[in-house]
Amino acid sequence: MSSLVTNLLILFLVWYGSVCPTSSVPYEYSISNLDLDKFTSEKEAFHLFQIWKKENEREYQTLEEEAARFQIFKSNLKYVREKNAKRKSPNDSRLGLNKFSDMSYEEFSKIYLHEIEKPIMKGNYSKMILNDASCPNAPSSWDWRTKGAVTHVKDQGGCGGCWAFSATGAIEGITQIVSKWLPDLSEQQLISCVTRNKGCEGGWYGRAFKYVIRNGGITSGANYPYTAKDSACNSSRAQNIITTIDSYNYWYHTPISGRSLRCFVYNQPVSVSLYASAEFKSYTGGIFKGHDCLGIGSCKLNHAVLIVGYGSSDDGQDYWIVKNSWGANWGEQGYIRIKRNTGSTRGVCNINCSGAYPTKGKNEIPALKLATSI
Ligand SMILES: *[C@@H]1O[C@H](CO)[C@@H](O)[C@H](O)[C@H]1NC(C)=O
Ligand SMILES: *[C@@H]1O[C@H](CO)[C@@H](O)[C@H](O)[C@H]1NC(C)=O
Ligand SMILES: *[C@@H]1O[C@H](CO)[C@@H](O)[C@H](O)[C@H]1NC(C)=O
Ligand SMILES: *[C@@H]1O[C@H](CO)[C@@H](O)[C@H](O)[C@H]1NC(C)=O
Repeated sequence: MSSLVTNLLILFLVWYGSVCPTSSVPYEYSISNLDLDKFTSEKEAFHLFQIWKKENEREYQTLEEEAARFQIFKSNLKYVREKNAKRKSPNDSRLGLNKFSDMSYEEFSKIYLHEIEKPIMKGNYSKMILNDASCPNAPSSWDWRTKGAVTHVKDQGGCGGCWAFSATGAIEGITQIVSKWLPDLSEQQLISCVTRNKGCEGGWYGRAFKYVIRNGGITSGANYPYTAKDSACNSSRAQNIITTIDSYNYWYHTPISGRSLRCFVYNQPVSVSLYASAEFKSYTGGIFKGHDCLGIGSCKLNHAVLIVGYGSSDDGQDYWIVKNSWGANWGEQGYIRIKRNTGSTRGVCNINCSGAYPTKGKNEIPALKLATSI
């Protein structure tokens, strides 16, 4: 038996002996309410691991795996504690334990995060944004969730299909804004049918928009349900369309200004790419500044999300309201607030490097210059 497994068994015995009457922390506590600084010893960390496993309904096949997962859990716990200790103000974003806490960042990246190669734009479906747009009437804060243009937070599960969730979110949004009706659209259709993307191994929402235009629309999640797996396109489901888009506008690997992005977001929810760092993985709340993205190369991107609004905190920090697709138990009920107007060209974690939004009806932003169809 390996020493890791032996240690685990000893911890199990100690833990079973002490958990009920004598432990200072009841087993039933929720992870989010616990002070992680109290769990520093091996025994306490193990206790916390048991609470975490129960809360996340995690079971392992073998003791070897459980022992290995516990090691990773401990190093994530240490990471979260150290990062939180460095917070300068109580308003700085917080890290915490979440459903990814038994995975290392490397392992997590292989499943959830994928860099995408530069897409080749062909056909007359999209236009590149050329100038800096400004919307003089845009208010200082805006939230599409309060206008009924955003569906519930979805969960991509163990499939790297963030691009499909980002794309459905943008189409759901523009449908509600133009047609006054909010559909819940099918990510699985995009994962299975957008053959130019790589399904659960990554892709670009722009190609999803192009597919939807060529397909004559997209169906509902109820008609083409999510399986979190690659599979062949079911064309009879794919043709049962419930909403359409006309075209899409995009920018790629050329950061746009925060002012333009604010203008686009005021017009509709916008798909963007960013670099999801280790801090991003463990984010649990506050305004995220992405300190560990500072060393990330020029416009390097590995994740797609949806910006649904913007605002400023009481102490004057501007932020984007960003919808993620890692379930409502990640971040702030599935959302992350990302700092805006930092003055850096690429934005926090490269958030203004690449993005796109679909067009439908007459929702075009005035005075926006677009490349002729490419
Ligand atoms: C693209 O071109 C085709 C053929 O010229 C035309 O039928 C179609 O409507 C065009 N689509 C868009 C989005 O402009
Ligand atoms: C496609 O979906 C329909 C239901 O809409 C189902 O009856 C059919 O078996 C599916 N086809 C394949 C090849 O899975
Ligand atoms: C990118 O984003 C930052 C932060 O929101 C902003 O300050 C900056 O002006 C943006 N774009 C460019 C091209 O600088
Ligand atoms: C934190 O935010 C509160 C209100 O949101 C503000 O009053 C306070 O000054 C902020 N603290 C710091 C250190 O920025």
